[in-house]
Amino acid sequence: MPTYASKDELDFDLSQLPCLPAFDHVEMAAPDFFDVQYAINPHMLDASGALQRIDRKLAQQQWNSVREAIESAGVTVTVEPALADHPDFVFCANPWLPIPAEVTGEGPHCVPSRMASDERAGEVARWCESLAGRGWKVAPLTGTAKCLEGTGDGLWHPRRQLLWAGIGSRTERGAWEELAERYGLHVVLLELQDPALYHLDTCLAPLDERTCLWSPSAFTSAGAALIEQLFEDAIAVSEPEAHESFVCNAFAPDAGGAARPVVLQKGAQRVVRELSERGFSPIEVETDEFLKAGGSVFCMKMAHPVRVDQ
Ligand code: ARG
Repeated sequence: MPTYASKDELDFDLSQLPCLPAFDHVEMAAPDFFDVQYAINPHMLDASGALQRIDRKLAQQQWNSVREAIESAGVTVTVEPALADHPDFVFCANPWLPIPAEVTGEGPHCVPSRMASDERAGEVARWCESLAGRGWKVAPLTGTAKCLEGTGDGLWHPRRQLLWAGIGSRTERGAWEELAERYGLHVVLLELQDPALYHLDTCLAPLDERTCLWSPSAFTSAGAALIEQLFEDAIAVSEPEAHESFVCNAFAPDAGGAARPVVLQKGAQRVVRELSERGFSPIEVETDEFLKAGGSVFCMKMAHPVRVDQ
């Protein structure tokens, strides 16, 4: 299947693409060892250039509140035990990419990430082991792409077999080309151009089949045109909303019901209002300790449609 890098290349309507079930299962990683011990994105340094300092107790409380908010939305949460010496392990959106059974034509696949930094490389094996133990097939990349960071850069379109694919410092185009080819998947390529919004999940949040939050300045004009073409309602957020509140790192748990919860960092009042006006139910949580590491709600979980016991 070809990848799509500009609006002119689109040769399908969303409504023609095969469906996906609700991603009503969520994995999280326990935050016991969460810390900032190195800087691999600009948020991990404070204004004086020193590593951010984390309040570990507060971080645990904030993590609990994210978990509770996600559970209150009606999805199941499974918690992976913490991994010593891996202070970013809590950001479990990154070490692998789930490919649902509807796409593979067999069982679900886990594509292990090729992390862009050595510091995080050790997280991948733990997830592969855990998922393989639950019946997932581990299906590594075979091509030469140097990096791929899971759902940091690969976002499934809600309920459709379409992958939104970020290209930047964390994921190379070649990784997406390989996956598009392997799975016969429609993949929309978006180049990222703001170093502070270094993963696609920091500047685009698909909320439902027709709605997303996005930060226009993070994208090239080709990327912006693709987002505006394929989402009927693309809600633009301002640079401060994206940079300071990480509002595009919102997560819309899909429990399959009529409720339309959106879990997001507290404080983006205008965005909260926009969501409410559209019939979403915003759930604000505090993730300040995690923002110091460059992550918020979306990065702290991995959603997929596979039950634990399958
Ligand atoms: N410190 C982590 C990193 O730079 C944060 C990851 C946040 N995850 C995300 N999906 N944006 O890799």
